[in-house]
Amino acid sequence: MLNRASFRPWWRTAAIYQLYVRSFADGAGDGIGDLAGARARLPYLASLGIDAIWFNPWYASPMADAGYDISDYRAIEPAFGTLADADALISEAHALGIRIIIDVVPNHGSDQHPWFRSALAAGPGSAERARFWFRPGRGIRGERPPNDWQSIFGGPAWTRVTESDGSPGEWYLHLFAPEQPDFNWGCPDVRAEFEDVLRFWFGRGADGIRIDSAALLTKDPALPDLPDTGPGTPPGPAHPYTDRDDVHDIYRSWRAIADEDETGSRVLIGEIWLPDAQRLARYVTPGELHTVFNFPYLSCPWDAGALRRVIEQTLALNAPTGAPATWVLSNHDVDRTVTRYGRADTAFDLERRRYFHSLPTDLELGTRRARAAALLTMALPGSVYIYQGEELGLWEVQDIDDDLREDPIWRRTNGADPGRDGCRVPLPWSGTEPPFGFSPDSAVASPWLPQPKEWRDLTVAAELASAGSMLRLYAEGLRIRRAEGALRGTGMRWLPAPDGVLAFDRPGADGPAVRCVVNLSPGPVPLPAGGTVLLASGPLDRGLLPPDTTAWLRAEP
Ligand code: NOJ
Repeated sequence: MLNRASFRPWWRTAAIYQLYVRSFADGAGDGIGDLAGARARLPYLASLGIDAIWFNPWYASPMADAGYDISDYRAIEPAFGTLADADALISEAHALGIRIIIDVVPNHGSDQHPWFRSALAAGPGSAERARFWFRPGRGIRGERPPNDWQSIFGGPAWTRVTESDGSPGEWYLHLFAPEQPDFNWGCPDVRAEFEDVLRFWFGRGADGIRIDSAALLTKDPALPDLPDTGPGTPPGPAHPYTDRDDVHDIYRSWRAIADEDETGSRVLIGEIWLPDAQRLARYVTPGELHTVFNFPYLSCPWDAGALRRVIEQTLALNAPTGAPATWVLSNHDVDRTVTRYGRADTAFDLERRRYFHSLPTDLELGTRRARAAALLTMALPGSVYIYQGEELGLWEVQDIDDDLREDPIWRRTNGADPGRDGCRVPLPWSGTEPPFGFSPDSAVASPWLPQPKEWRDLTVAAELASAGSMLRLYAEGLRIRRAEGALRGTGMRWLPAPDGVLAFDRPGADGPAVRCVVNLSPGPVPLPAGGTVLLASGPLDRGLLPPDTTAWLRAEP
C-alpha cells in the first residue's frame, strides 16, 4: 500500500515494468489485451517485485500505430476498457504498492482527433489549421510536398488533403504515419491542451508520464529543407525538427505541473533517441525532466569494453544534474533481447532492423547472455526497465505471416523494414497450446498475433514451476535488489578485472557492499576472493564464472 512515507522520489531506483496493453492479457476474450486483463494480473506483477508499471498508450485510437495515434487523450480505447477501468486499475495498483506511469504522445495526434477533423473542414488559413502544420505544396499546382522531410516510418512526411470543394489542397506534416498529423507547438492552444491533459491524468492518480518522441515537438516555422546531408543531418539546435533548443521550454512548464503535487513523487520520463549523449543530458537539467531512457545502453553490443564505456558515460553525464541513470535493455520498438544477443552482431539500431533480422540467431546463447545482462542491469545504480515478456525470455518472432503484420513501418517500407510486430506477440501465461491463457477459455477470437507453439515452455505457469527459469531469476534479482540497501544506493566502484570481464562494487551506506561480476570473455574466470555468491545467472563451473554469466556476491568488508 502506498502511504505518505513512501512518497520519496521512488523513481530514482525503481524497477519499472513496461506493459504493452494489447499484448499483456485479454480479459474480454476478443484476442486483444485490455485493462481488465491487466487488472487481473496485477498480483503477478506485485509478486515479480516491480515498483511501477509504464502503460503504453491506452487512449481512444484508430490504432494506425498501435495507439500512438490518439483521437481522445482523456478517454480509454474502447477495445481496452473504460475510464472507470483505468481508475480502478490505478487504485488497485496503488493498493499493491505499484505506481502507474502513463504514456503521453504530444508530437502528433490522430487524423480522427476532433481538432484535425475540424482543421480539414475549416480550410486554409484558419485557426483550426494553425494547430497543425498545413502548408501549400511546391510546384505550379502545389503538387509537390512543401519540403523534403521524410517520415520516420518511410515515405514523405507530408500528405496532401482534398479541400471541402473537392479540389487538391494543402499538405500537412506527419513525422510518422499519415494518420498521425504533427501538432504545431508554436500554437498556444496546443500547449494549453496538453497541460490540461497532464492535469487530467495526474488528477486521476497517475504517478508519472512517459513522453513519446520527446525531442521532436518543436519545428523551425520556416520548415526548410534539410541541409545538404539530407536525412542524416545531425540533430541539435539548428535542426529543423529534432532536439531544438525551444523544446526545453515545454518541459519546464510540464515540470512545474508535476511539481504541483507537494509530495514531489511524480516523474517525467523522456523518450529521446539521440546519438549525442551530451545533448541527451540537457533534458534532465534541474527544472526539466526527471529522467530519460538510456538508448545508448539499449543499443550497446554484448561487449565488455563497449558496455563499460556506455555505463561510465551515462553516469558521468547524469552526475552534474543529479538525475538518476536509467537502464533499459528492450522495449516495444526493438528486437527482443534473447534474439539480439544470439546473433553474431549483438548491437541494435532502429535504422538497420532489416540487417539484424537477416542474421541467424542462437537462442540458447542469446538466452544465456540475456540472463547475464539482466543481472548486470539490475546491479547498476538508478532505475531499471523491464519490457513485458523479457522476464520470460521470449524471443523476437521473425516469421509472422505478411498478412498478419500490423506495424505501419512494415507497410510504409513495403516490407523492406520488418517492423516491430515480432516483439509485440501476446504473452503466454499458462497451458500447453495457444492462446496460452492470454485470453479466457470463453474467448471468441485468437490472439491478435499468433504465438509460437514453443512458448509452451515459456509460460508464466511453466516458469514459476521451474527453478532455473528466467522468471525465477528476475524475481530473485528484483527481490535482492529491493532488500540490499547497497543496490538501491548511488555508489559504484569499478574493480580490476581480466579482459572481457566487468566487475564493480555497489558499496552499502551502512551495510556490506554487493559485488557484480560479468564474464563476457570466451573462457571461465575465477570470482574475486572473499565473497559469498548471492545470485548467479547460470551455474558456476567448479567455482569459476563461465562465459556469458553474471554473479552477484556479498563482498566481505
Ligand atoms: C515512439 C514509440 O515508442 C513508437 O512505438 C511510436 O511508433 C512512435 N514513437 C510514434 O509515436
